[in-house]
Amino acid sequence: MTDRYAVFGNPIAHSKSPRIHTLFALQTGEAVEYSALRSEEEEFAQDVMIFLVAGGKGCNITVPFKQEAWELADELSDYAARAKAVNTLAFRDDGTMVGSNTDGIGIVRDLQQNHGLALQGKRILLLGAGGAVRGVLQPILEAQPASLFIANRTAAKALELAQDFAEFGAVTGGGFADITGQFDLIINGTAASLQGELPPLPPNCLATGGSTYDMMYGAKPTAFVEWGKAQGAAYALDGLGMLVEQAAEAFFIWRGVRPDTAPVLAQLRAELAGK
Ligand code: ATR
Repeated sequence: MTDRYAVFGNPIAHSKSPRIHTLFALQTGEAVEYSALRSEEEEFAQDVMIFLVAGGKGCNITVPFKQEAWELADELSDYAARAKAVNTLAFRDDGTMVGSNTDGIGIVRDLQQNHGLALQGKRILLLGAGGAVRGVLQPILEAQPASLFIANRTAAKALELAQDFAEFGAVTGGGFADITGQFDLIINGTAASLQGELPPLPPNCLATGGSTYDMMYGAKPTAFVEWGKAQGAAYALDGLGMLVEQAAEAFFIWRGVRPDTAPVLAQLRAELAGK
């Protein structure tokens, strides 16, 4: 028996999740089939129920339905509860749904394990204060950076987020104009890369030997990756590794098996470059 999973989003046609989970299934020998399903606004909850009733075992959720998935879940993991966003639902046999958020685990694993960039004691600048940033804050703070400053175009949103997560560590927030000093790691969680834009960063804010990370990715380096390179970053990374790592954690939640992410990431990188 092959178990069915899917990713729900809108748009969804270009999602790499089916490819990633198919590669995980091949590698681990798990009998898993994974498809991409588009939901219309207002129909997401119903579509998930239909998928469950039709025998689906779980699903991933991407933009713009992560908050709705959080509302839909019968039970929430600690990270999902705090993030107010769910990217992974696991269906129990009794039809109830457990919601998790694996995005933060994804970025922390990509940074620390794939690239050897330990976060402990580091000065981190996190750009953006939308859903993407909210989803990763707790795991990043739990990695114990020395400080974390959230900078956002709308400063009030960054301040609010910093307050919401203050119990997890030394986190403050403000506008881009409030960025002062130097950082060991600058993470871009704004949607600016989608528009080919760069958040307005002050000169010399990346410390010598520091690295940059764009949560977005593309066939070509994003504007933020190019900026990191121009600043002399030790690593100027994009978010493909985070995507694969968050998927691996979802696969583990569903199957109890942890795929080896390195070959899958290498394969995806080659495919993205058109090789
Ligand atoms: P997501 O789920 O991708 O986080 P979102 O919740 O709409 O989407 O948040 C988008 C984030 O990108 C916000 O932090 C937004 O800033 P505002 O809160 O001020 O709107 C930020 N953003 C979008 N376009 C941007 C740009 N061109 N430059 C800087 N920040 C941008």
